[in-house]
Formats: sequence, C-alpha cells, structure tokens
Amino acid sequence: MTNDANKMWGGRFAAGPDAIMEAINASIGFDQRLARQDIQGSRAHAAMLAATGILTNSDAEAIREGLLTVLSEIETGEFAFSTALEDIHMNVEARLKELIGEPAGRLHTGRSRNDQVATDFRLWVRDQCDAAHSGLRALQIALLNQAEAGADWVMPGFTHLQTAQPVTWGHHMMAYVEMLGRDASRFADARARMNECPLGAAALAGTSFPIDRDATAQALGFDRPMANSLDAVADRDFALEFLAASSITAMHLSRLAEELVIWSSAQFRFVTMSDRFSTGSSIMPQKKNPDAAELVRAKIGRILGATVGLFTVMKGLPLAYSKDMQEDKQQVFDAADSLMLSLAAMEGMVADMSANPDALRVAAASGFSTATDLADWLVREAGLPFRDAHHVTGTLVALAESTGVDLPDLSLDQMMSAHPAITDAVFGVLGVDNSVKSRTSYGGTSPDQVRSQIAFWKERLG
Ligand code: ARG
Repeated sequence: MTNDANKMWGGRFAAGPDAIMEAINASIGFDQRLARQDIQGSRAHAAMLAATGILTNSDAEAIREGLLTVLSEIETGEFAFSTALEDIHMNVEARLKELIGEPAGRLHTGRSRNDQVATDFRLWVRDQCDAAHSGLRALQIALLNQAEAGADWVMPGFTHLQTAQPVTWGHHMMAYVEMLGRDASRFADARARMNECPLGAAALAGTSFPIDRDATAQALGFDRPMANSLDAVADRDFALEFLAASSITAMHLSRLAEELVIWSSAQFRFVTMSDRFSTGSSIMPQKKNPDAAELVRAKIGRILGATVGLFTVMKGLPLAYSKDMQEDKQQVFDAADSLMLSLAAMEGMVADMSANPDALRVAAASGFSTATDLADWLVREAGLPFRDAHHVTGTLVALAESTGVDLPDLSLDQMMSAHPAITDAVFGVLGVDNSVKSRTSYGGTSPDQVRSQIAFWKERLG
C-alpha cells in the first residue's frame, strides 16, 4: 500500500480519512467495554472454523492463543487502543496480527463486523440482565427484612399523599417487594428472548462457507442461532427490552427514593437514614441530607433518556445494518451503570435505615385515618347503606375537626347526634391497631396477611 488508506479495506481507497471523519467514525472510545465479549466471540468462531475444516487446526490454535494474550493485555491496561483502527473489533484483530502474523487474517472468514458486534453486544446486555436480576434480589431481601421487623407497626397509608387508612410498615415494604419481583421477571423474560446467536449471519446474507452456527451459538451459551441473517444484524430490540425493563425498574426505585426523602424529613421522621448513606451540609451544621435517595430518584432521567434515545436511533432504519446503530452502545452502557449503582445504593439505604415505630403510630392515628372503619361499622352493625354511612361519618369528621380532636376523642353523645344507632361498641373500631387487624382480605394490610406475604417471598428468594 502506497498511501495511508485503511489497512482493513484500503484496497479500493486512494486516500486515508479526514481527521473529522476518523473522529465521527471511531467507536473505540466506548466499545472497548465489549473487549471480553469480542474475544469470547472470536474464540468460538475460530474453534468452529477449525472444526468445520475451514481453517487448519494450527491456525485456529494460534488465533485462540493469541486472542487470550490480547485479552490479558486489555485487562492489565497494557493494550494501546487506536482511534485509527476505529472499533474494538479492528483493534483486537490488528493486535492479533502483530502477535501471530498471517493466521490472524483468516479469523474474519465467514463473518463480518455486523454479526460480530451484534453478538458482542447481546452477550454484554445478557450479562446486564443477570446483574439487574441479582441487584433486584438483594434489594428485595433488604425490604423483606424491614417488613419482617415491622410486620405489625402501624403507619398512615396515603392516597393523594393525604392520610387515607392505617396500614402496616410491613405491608408498605412488601408492596415494593412485589413491584421489584415483576421487574426481575421482566429482565428474565428479556434475557430468554435475546438468547439467540447472531454470529454467522455475516454482513447480512449469511455466508458460502460451510460454517456451523449451532456450534458457535452453543459455545457462547445461546439457546440457538438466530433464524434470519438480516434480522440478526439489523435489530437491537434486545437492547431496547433491556432499557424498557431498566426504565420501569428505575421508575419504581424513584418512587421508593422519593418516599425515603419525605420520610426522613424532620416533619415526618418515619425513618432515620444511616450516616453511611447521608451527607452533611457545608454551611448548616444540623443537616443530614438523603443525597443517595435523591440521586436514585433522579437516575430515571438518564435511563429513560437512553431508552428514548435508542428508539430514536432505530426508528426508520432500513434493513439491514446501518452505521447509525453504532450509536446504540453508549446509552445502554450508561443506563446499565446507572441502574446497577441505583440498585446497590437503594439496597444499602434500605438495609441500613431504621424506621421509627412511635412516629409511625402517632401519624397513623391522626388525620381521621379510621373514618372508613367507622363507616364500615355503621354498615355492619347498624345496617346502614354504605352511602348513608359515608355521610354520617363525614358529619362526625367535620365535628371532630371543628372541635380540634380526633375521631376516637368524640363522646358517645356526639356520635349519637349524628346517628342514634351508634353505640359504645363503635370505639372498638376507631383504634389503628384494630383497623389494620380487621383488613384480613387477601393482600390486605392485616399483620397476618403481611406475614403470609413475607413467608411466600422468603421461600421464593431463598
Ligand atoms: N463499530 C461498529 C458498530 O458498533 C461495528 C460494525 C461496523 N460495521 C460496518 N459495516 N461498518 O456498529
């Protein structure tokens, strides 16, 4: 070659790329994160090329050994990545050539960077599904421990962030265990669907070499090769599914984070966050800020942003591969990092925090939280239609509010002024403990129900 044209395809080029072209084209700055998967894929490909007689055993062996050397150079940080070599695939291959010479040039037989990158990225995202799954499990266990400690602690349940009815701390914790359980199953579903191997689709049409796609699929832990070579190199739905599952999880984490922020305030004092997951203020000495919770609350922005970003990259692309698709990686990397960090931080916060049962109880008893219990009592014991009972209770709430007391503090006479059928027995349902104990319907907040939810999940999470 007499010019500085690219060594991989310079045959039909008279000149090398402009510096700006090189800058926009190169992905090595970020796709080096795929090094391990790239080398794993190439080793499987080389072994298959030897097994099918496409390469000699000695060439394949040299390639497989050389790739291990490249991997260790990358892992120890000795490897010199080159922007001129554009991406991880060509960086690895070029170094392999320096190490083993001519056989390196045979590795790319029967494949293309299109199926190579699709394979590498699937392997990477598959690992992230597993990491998300175990991060979720760890957080579920932390929540389960909280639930178990306070299965019968009463606290206010809210709707519209207004006191609604008393619930138990355990019930509230277990609500998140359920949500995160669905999140974990979304990652498991996505993983099962993405576990098909693109390798061997080559550029887009397959190859005329007698390759064995089942062998490479199996070597890489995939269930089977992808059935259509165009689809194999063209789609990134697996990454979108991962991002969608990540977005839903991040939304759940954001809600829990928001509750921790509210609950740890001096106005609520429902929980005390540990020093390990709080920060101070440089000016206000009294401050203990729930920064970790606030940051988890915010991470949805990046994760959902990545989801929208990748949808936008993929929409409208004609089949098969287009270079647009190189823009798939950075956002997925960032979203995955953000998700795993959020899960770890949330697990730490939940495991370390301590609930304040006294503050929970005081709050549970205020705000007329047992008004529904009173209305239900009127239906059950005095035979009123629920709508009438609702009205009678409403007048009593108004009376209590105007005299500055809570429902249980009203006298029997005051009660009877709203409805003559009310008896002393009504006071039995106005306490918060009786209120939560009475909610025994399946999935309800009674401590017995909560304990059976806890038992179910303990068994499930092992
Ligand atoms: N760096 C590329 C990417 O991430 C690899 C595939 C390049 N293929 C191609 N035909 N230029 O998408």
